[in-house]
Amino acid sequence: MNKITNQNTVWHEPSVYRTDREIMNGHKSVIIWFTGLSGAGKSSLSHALEDTLHRKQIRTYVLDGDNIRRGLCNDLGFSDNDRTENIRRIGEVSKLMMNAGVIVLTAFISPFIKDRKIVRELVGEGEFIEIHCSASLEDCESRDVKGLYKKARAGEISDFTGISSPYDAPENAEIVLDTAKLSIEECIETIVSYLIERDIVQFL
Ligand code: ADX
Repeated sequence: MNKITNQNTVWHEPSVYRTDREIMNGHKSVIIWFTGLSGAGKSSLSHALEDTLHRKQIRTYVLDGDNIRRGLCNDLGFSDNDRTENIRRIGEVSKLMMNAGVIVLTAFISPFIKDRKIVRELVGEGEFIEIHCSASLEDCESRDVKGLYKKARAGEISDFTGISSPYDAPENAEIVLDTAKLSIEECIETIVSYLIERDIVQFL
């Protein structure tokens, strides 16, 4: 809880609840949180999953690190503190969007276990689905899709995850996908099966 803003505010109870929206939508709303190194496939997977769900009339929205850092988080860099603030904001935005009835898909490196835990605890049991895109540093660096690993090795980018900044792999992710080995289709199949098994969506 923030010390300043909380002093003189009073919580206003909504008249339309998330459960009302879920009934109207015909699916539950959750946060599907992709974490992993840069280039591990978080963005590709979240957009592919959104495409699959959208075709089934499911309300979704992707929050993607590279995009969000051009707007909402364009004042933040890549120090540990800035990353923590980045994830705090995304956690709060994700919670709002989840309460608005949306299945939120997030694609952020989110390198620190403690920050991901804070987001997990913002929402209810089963509503934060952590997906570890577990492609190794060697795999991500050898592909180097954006050319950033080369720059980081050359010292042109500081605090680069995996090279000059740490990445804490999840210990208890709901789903682990070896994105260096699996195809996008195989990953999507695993995630969709998980969502159906837990009654979050129904695919007719
Ligand atoms: S996070 O650590 O705060 O979660 P976020 O996912 O928002 O990071 O942003 C990561 C993206 O920013 C990477 O995919 C990459 O394209 C870009 N980037 C630029 N500089 C860095 C850096 N120093 N470390 C990691 N990613 C960086």
